[in-house]
Amino acid sequence: MREIYVIGSMSMDLVVQSEKRPAKGETILGDHFFMTTGGKGANQAVSAARLGANVHMVGCVGDDTFGETIVKNLVDNGVHVENVETIPQCASGTAHITLADHDNSIIVVPSANFKVTKELVDQVFKSMKDDAIILIQNEIPKDVTTYIIESAYEKGITVVYNPAPFIEMDVELLKKVTYFTPNETEVEAFFGSDYESIIQDYDKQLIVTLGDKGAVFYDEALIHVPSIKADVVDTTGAGDTFNGAFAVGLSEGMNIQEAIQFANKAASISVTGLGAQGGMPYRKDMN
Ligand code: RIB
Repeated sequence: MREIYVIGSMSMDLVVQSEKRPAKGETILGDHFFMTTGGKGANQAVSAARLGANVHMVGCVGDDTFGETIVKNLVDNGVHVENVETIPQCASGTAHITLADHDNSIIVVPSANFKVTKELVDQVFKSMKDDAIILIQNEIPKDVTTYIIESAYEKGITVVYNPAPFIEMDVELLKKVTYFTPNETEVEAFFGSDYESIIQDYDKQLIVTLGDKGAVFYDEALIHVPSIKADVVDTTGAGDTFNGAFAVGLSEGMNIQEAIQFANKAASISVTGLGAQGGMPYRKDMN
């Protein structure tokens, strides 16, 4: 089975559940507060590891209690952490999440996640096998993300690029990633048009996630892979579960459609639990 390297963010999620979001200048009372491990990178690593993959996390945490908790959680989930660096005198990344109206709003403070360097990436490339799968997002410095894509392309290594949260990127760079997995909003921000107008230019490469409607990709025609109905508790981390599971599918030799079906199933299970990783399935839950 091919190894998966997630190069990305690790954060502590500070979550408030509330009836509504406060308006500008307004103070309201919330219902419940909890802290849980998150960060798009760590979420994707945990998703893949719970589904049985051999997963390495690459990134940075701060030298605080959040950092210790984040690393322990990865280890507890079977993720290799030899490439997780602790940055002295630095805070760990945090995400400030409001759950209201059946959806989330998130502000991410990157902190240590913005300390990931090209040197760390180079160190990881040295130990990576040629058939590895790299999973990246947009919560580490943009120049490092660009460097990973360029370097992996030169080495012929598979890259799954989940461009979340949206940041401006050179569209030309996309030609160098193996799979690009935005949601509908990210596609529009990226290309300035809806996915139907451009998806045929990215044959078997662009996979657009559509939330509870599943996902689409193009293979001589537009192919829609529907999702599975679920009782939604919290959608936070559903996209991360999808990406982690998609990488697992690829690592096990599934074709793109099979890997998307597998990922849709994992994502639909993930929304039934609270917190980004709370509902992420284990392999036994996928039968
Ligand atoms: O995708 C969900 C994640 O986004 C949360 O866990 C939070 O950390 C933010 O990065």
